[in-house]
Amino acid sequence: MTRGMALLRVALVGCGLISEAHARAYAGHHDRARITVCFDTDLSRAAERADAIGARVASSYEEVLTDPEVDSIELCTPPHLHTDQVIAALEAGKHVSCQKPLARTLGECDAMIEAAERSGRVLFYAEMYRTMGVAVRAREVVESGRIGKLVGIQATYAHWQGGPYLDTPWRYNPKVAGGGQLLDGGIHHIALMRLVGGDVEAASCFTNRIRPELGGDDTATVILRFAEGHLGTLMSTQAAGTWFPGPGFVAFGTEGILTIGGPYGGLVVHHDDLPDRREVLISERADAFGEMVGHFLDVVLDGVPSRATAQTGREDLRTVLAAYRSADEGRSVLLSELP
Ligand SMILES: NC(=O)c1ccc[n+]([C@@H]2O[C@H](COP(=O)([O-])OP(=O)(O)OC[C@H]3O[C@@H](n4cnc5c(N)ncnc54)[C@H](O)[C@@H]3O)[C@@H](O)[C@H]2O)c1
Repeated sequence: MTRGMALLRVALVGCGLISEAHARAYAGHHDRARITVCFDTDLSRAAERADAIGARVASSYEEVLTDPEVDSIELCTPPHLHTDQVIAALEAGKHVSCQKPLARTLGECDAMIEAAERSGRVLFYAEMYRTMGVAVRAREVVESGRIGKLVGIQATYAHWQGGPYLDTPWRYNPKVAGGGQLLDGGIHHIALMRLVGGDVEAASCFTNRIRPELGGDDTATVILRFAEGHLGTLMSTQAAGTWFPGPGFVAFGTEGILTIGGPYGGLVVHHDDLPDRREVLISERADAFGEMVGHFLDVVLDGVPSRATAQTGREDLRTVLAAYRSADEGRSVLLSELP
């Protein structure tokens, strides 16, 4: 934590596709943080991003790490680089906000978590479904008992991830990325399912590949059994023709149903006793990256307990890896099999 600091000085490392959303999100919090340095091994990308936001360009990662005017690193590099870069940053005394997936293996996650504990710096798991207002409120609604006892969760993450995403070859090479679309995209909804549904006990999964352009799995169905007894299903695909227009997340309870997204609005409770049989709790579209960066700043600057710890990133990854093991071995896998 860096309490009392007026302005967190941030280095944006990795200036590819998702870095633009982060640059925009930090601009929305200019009273508390500023991206002062950009770095990418493709220096032209770093220069383009830096020009757009009035930042400096660093010529190496070491230069970023030894820069006394950098307090924190927003790490937007591909997942196979996260572990070494995160550990080096923590050892250099920087806080780190690291993109999902935290890493490719649980051992890599453990090494990062140990480095964070040694350093006393914040290692934040930059997964917006852990910090989005609709997600956090959905968990509160379930905890309040408003939809009764949780029966099950149904999540859908479906779209066609073509366009510029096809120019990120690491993404579609499971040997580099550590998995296919379930790890790259489906993990967002695994995070949401776990935030609302709690700990997962077992996973079953089938994977498939439909699009020849994508390597590894581009489609997966995952069935989860949660520790509290309720069940969950995830349909996760990057091969669908368009974004799924329905509610991407539904929690079924013995007294009612809760939906996120789709035609009903941001966060809606459905109940027979309500006028129109539903109540819209949050209607506006979430600024997912703005909310995520805002929470990161709350954690680093104000000492607010993190909702997106590295341990939650490890647990999301453990769930995905259990699903992959299920698909490989054709059986249901207990999460305890992956310590
Ligand atoms: N939250 C989301 O919705 C979301 C969406 C897309 C990507 N992501 C995550 O963000 C990360 C980056 O994804 P992306 O789509 O932006 O990938 P990308 O390939 O577009 O960008 C990665 C950038 O890192 C640079 N890079 C490579 N090696 C580097 C190094 N050693 N040091 C510094 N820079 C280096 C590349 O040149 C590239 O510009 C991944 O972890 C991905 O899973 C999250």
